Amino acid sequence: MSILKIAKLGHPVLLKKAREIKEFSSESLKKIIYDMSETMIDYNGIGLAAPQVHLSNRIVIFRNPDIEEKEKVHVTPLINPIFKPIGDEKEDDWEGCLSIPGMQGLVSRFKKISYYGYDLDGNKIECTAEGLHARVVQHEIDHLDGILYTSRLTDQKAFGFEKEIVKFWKNEKNR
Ligand code: NI
Repeated sequence: MSILKIAKLGHPVLLKKAREIKEFSSESLKKIIYDMSETMIDYNGIGLAAPQVHLSNRIVIFRNPDIEEKEKVHVTPLINPIFKPIGDEKEDDWEGCLSIPGMQGLVSRFKKISYYGYDLDGNKIECTAEGLHARVVQHEIDHLDGILYTSRLTDQKAFGFEKEIVKFWKNEKNR
């Protein structure tokens, strides 16, 4: 396994629509997913999409906050994923991205979704999600369509360096 280089904001691979995976169960697919997992864990991320490691393919991985227990990492790979909102309720929360290091922005996402995709061997995975789990899946699937959270800010002003956001947006006293 190896840690991959992460594409940063400004790299055109982050703005492209990624290609579907047609062939499952291959050694190369397995290696990509293992390397992506190692990379995400090393960078302490909760999700990673293939375009972020310069691969324009429809693969995402994420840590599932519903399953994860304290200190135990549970990585779900999802190939050719698609989501649908359940209801139209949305929720605002702060997001970060390994391709935009050190920054945070306030983003509105569907509160509840259903999603499906495929595992390494092409078995269908279907799930419903809400809260952080739903947010991570929507953020990662956006990457496959070349969309970064910075184009979904609820307010153009609600974006900045993490340190300042914590100080001036999350700390009520300074608002
Ligand atoms: Ni991201």
